[in-house]
Amino acid sequence: EREQHRSLVEVMSTAARFYREQLKASPRAVDYLKRRGLTGEVAAKFGIGYAPDGWQALDKAFPKYDEPALAEAGLVIDNEAGRRYDRFRDRIMFPIQDARGNVIAFGGRILDAGEPKYLNSPETPLFEKGRELYGLPQARIGIRETGTVIVVEGYMDVVALAQFGVCNAVATLGTATTPTHIQKLLRQADRLVFCFDGDKAGRKAARRGLEASLPHLADDKAVSFLFLPPEHDPDSFVRAHGADAFQSAARDATPLGRFLIDTLAEGCDLATAEGRAHLVHNAKEFIPKIGAPILKMQLVRDLAQSAQLGPDETAAALGLEVPRPR
Ligand code: GTP
Ligand code: MN
Ligand code: MN
Ligand code: MN
Ligand code: MN
Repeated sequence: EREQHRSLVEVMSTAARFYREQLKASPRAVDYLKRRGLTGEVAAKFGIGYAPDGWQALDKAFPKYDEPALAEAGLVIDNEAGRRYDRFRDRIMFPIQDARGNVIAFGGRILDAGEPKYLNSPETPLFEKGRELYGLPQARIGIRETGTVIVVEGYMDVVALAQFGVCNAVATLGTATTPTHIQKLLRQADRLVFCFDGDKAGRKAARRGLEASLPHLADDKAVSFLFLPPEHDPDSFVRAHGADAFQSAARDATPLGRFLIDTLAEGCDLATAEGRAHLVHNAKEFIPKIGAPILKMQLVRDLAQSAQLGPDETAAALGLEVPRPR
């Protein structure tokens, strides 16, 4: 199995090198990146490449195009007729790396309009979705220096932020944020700022991020949510408003506790007893999951205030143990 991993890592690294070279050879792909405002420097930092348009372009990179490792690595697909073809064709290629910098997967963006906009590697022995974060090796120093990690949705968001000097962002790769992601990140940073797109999908992603965070919260960690204007994602925002505006918005991000209580209160008319009961009912599924005991107590108090109940009554309603005076 070790052996297989090693050969897959080798195959992925060869492919990444090939895609980088192909980018240089494709004026159309270079032009696309320039139109998106990327510098050559940041493209190199993230190893961005280009998969040429052709069904078997990878046979130029691999003398043995028929070797099993190419399929195991998710770079080619074997059809029913036994013919093999490249998974990624005519796409901008973003290598996804593990913490050590090994390429373990790719995300490929179509250059023009078309479906799917992004095509990702399938799950392979190297790549388990829901564990990996795009841009982690590049962000490591920035995370350490700032004590903060910014979690965004997209490849382009990470790259654009880095280009503007915000070098502590990672992306969840379009999949929902998982508890594993959070655990990984809170081991490296004291502060985590979610900054998803301002659109509906982004707001939904923020709720998933909120849920995934609860079990891994700690009383010496801070998780917050930066909500961008509906027309923006981090890429477009930093290009429109600059890094200082982004950083200051990140500092003013909504703390998790407030976002949680606001979310729980959505659709509840707190002017009525029914609405206040509904709020506490909604909280039952979330507050007990909080892994930070002191924050949990604080939020029980906040909730009690909104619900117009005593803190002990609220704790009891949530099924939490009420601390008794001795
Ligand atoms: P740009 O349009 O290039 O700026 O990308 P974006 O990151 O802004 O795209 P979007 O906000 O639509 O999606 C956010 C992230 O979700 C992307 O970076 C991808 O990781 C993922 N994603 C978007 N579209 C697709 C898709 O069609 N298929 C898959 N598998 N993932 C997608
Ligand atoms: Mn979006
Ligand atoms: Mn986006
Ligand atoms: Mn975008
Ligand atoms: Mn704006």
